[in-house]
This record gives sequence, structure tokens and C-alpha cells, in this order.
Amino acid sequence: MSVVSSFSRHRRLRISPAIRSVLQENRLHPANLMAPFFVTDSEQLAGPISSLPGVRRYLVSELADAVRIAADTGIQSVILFGVPGHKRPDGSGASNEEGVVPRAIHEVRTSGTDVVIAADVCLCQYTSHGHCGLLSSDGSEILNDETLELIGRISLTYAQAGASLIAPSGMIDGTVSTIRQSLDASGYKNTGILAYSVKHASAFYGPFRDAARSTPASGDRRSHQLDPANAREAMREAESDLAEGADIIMVKPALTNLDTLVRLRTAHPHAPLAAYEVSGEYAMLEAAAAQGWLDRKAASLEALMAMKRAGADMIISYRAVEVARWLSGTG
Ligand code: PBG
Repeated sequence: MSVVSSFSRHRRLRISPAIRSVLQENRLHPANLMAPFFVTDSEQLAGPISSLPGVRRYLVSELADAVRIAADTGIQSVILFGVPGHKRPDGSGASNEEGVVPRAIHEVRTSGTDVVIAADVCLCQYTSHGHCGLLSSDGSEILNDETLELIGRISLTYAQAGASLIAPSGMIDGTVSTIRQSLDASGYKNTGILAYSVKHASAFYGPFRDAARSTPASGDRRSHQLDPANAREAMREAESDLAEGADIIMVKPALTNLDTLVRLRTAHPHAPLAAYEVSGEYAMLEAAAAQGWLDRKAASLEALMAMKRAGADMIISYRAVEVARWLSGTG
């Protein structure tokens, strides 16, 4: 007697590793991972970061080796964060040609390792007050347009040093068009902009601020970073960055923003899209794994896969190098 099936047998396509692999919809690949590096000019600051186990601050002289090791795993891109030993109220160290990031870029470029180098541009690591822009004289306001000029100058300095991508993370309005003009005016037409377009005012940046010594001395970042409650506003931010000339738009944090990734992928199907698994996401997983409460490798890969599935073309992750080793079967 033939029985007409009254339900779907989804398990047919899960029955063997081979069929599961044939039909796997998304795959992680080392080339889509960008590895962050903290780089400092201070011997005192160099070394491990307690809130980010496994992540270090490198001296400028140590960076090229670390980047080469990353590239050996199949990683093709890095993003550099400067952690200067000295800060000033006006953050002017950020645009110094002899500053930590330009020197770091130069070291990597001259080492012969062929990688995409993104350089984070923000004032918070360089200002003594830890804010992402210049402050009004009474300290109550981050001055938008006055900050732009400095952002344009910093970006040009990084481009001149050899950065492939300028990555402004300050959420100051007009940043992308300012950088584009600054780069084009000096002939850096092929230096791209990786815009932190959707950056929420998030509690998940805590460990980064330890690492980069960029916790604001007073107040918070809610006058410029997005309210985590807002998704429509996030779309407007991304739209203006694309209109101003962003080459890649980024969303962060990643895991709390999978909805935003999906929305952006749908609204801008052709725009290159990045997700940033931020410090708190990394630390959360590391802490649980250290307790034996989560399988570190499986949980890490699952989190990154969710970002990919939501629409991210590339992912910035503090575990990029380790993940690349896992993916290539060498870790
Ligand atoms: C600098 C910057 C921050 C991050 C990237 N660039 C911190 C902040 O906005 O306070 C966060 C990255 C992370 O948490 O891993 N503006």
C-alpha cells in the first residue's frame, strides 16, 4: 500500500555529512575576516590586555611580525588601533606623521606582507578627556564641524603612510564626505572608506576602552552614537554614509544587530557590508568558555556564522587569526 506523505522529510538533506556540506548555505572563509591590532608607542602599555584574553597591545616594532603570522593563516586584512602613550586635550597627536599609527602602517607596508590595512580614525584614544571629538570650552558639547577638519587631516596622514582603508569610528556627522574630499584633494583616490555607519552607544565596548585607554573621563557617547533602541535611524545613518561616498558600511556591535544587518542587506543589496564582533561580545564568550560553560570553538564559529547569514560580507573579530586556523584545519 502506498502511503502519501503528509509531512515534509527535511531530514533527507541532513542524513550524511556529504549532503549537509553540499547544501550548506553560508561558509566562513579566512579572507572575509579582518583582524584588529592594538599598537602602542609605550613600552609600559605593550603586552596582554586583561579584559580581552588572548589579545595584546603591540609595540610598533613588534607589529609587522604579528601581521605576518596573521597573513600566514589566510587573513587578508587588518585594522589598526593606535594607543598612544601621550594624550592631549585637542587630540592633535592623532594627525602626527610620526605618530603610532602612521609608523605602524609603514612598518607593515615595508615588511613585505601584502595585506589590506584599515586604520581606525577617532579622537578618543588621543584626547586627554577621552571623547571622540573636540569639546566646547565648557566641556559640555562635542563640537561636530570643528572636529571634521581634524578627522580629514588624520585620514590623510594615514593614507600617506600607506593605509588601504580609512575607518572613521567617531559617529561625527559629515565624516565620510570630509574624508573623501581630503583624500581626493591630495590624490589618494584609491584609498577607500570603511565607515562605522551603524555604531550603537553600546555597553559591549567596555573591554575595548580598557585596551585603547579611551574611556571618557566624564559623560558618555550618547550624543553621537546611536540609541540601541533605534533601527530606522540606523538605516538613515547608513544611507547618508553611502551617499557621502563610503565604500563599505559597517554595523556594530554585531550580535545585538543582526536585524540591522538583514535590513541593510535588503535595502542596499549591492553595498559591501561589514560586521564588527566587538570587544564585549568576544569577552562574554571567552568568560563563559573559561568556566567550561560553552564550547569555545563551536560557539565562536556559530556567532560569526550568524553574522554572515544575516548578510555581512566581512567580519572584524578579535578571534580572526584563531578562526582562520580553525577554518584551514591548522588550529
Ligand atoms: C573608537 C572605537 C571604539 C570601538 C571601535 N572604535 C570604542 C568606542 O566607541 O567607545 C569599539 C570596539 C570594540 O568594543 O571592540 N571610537
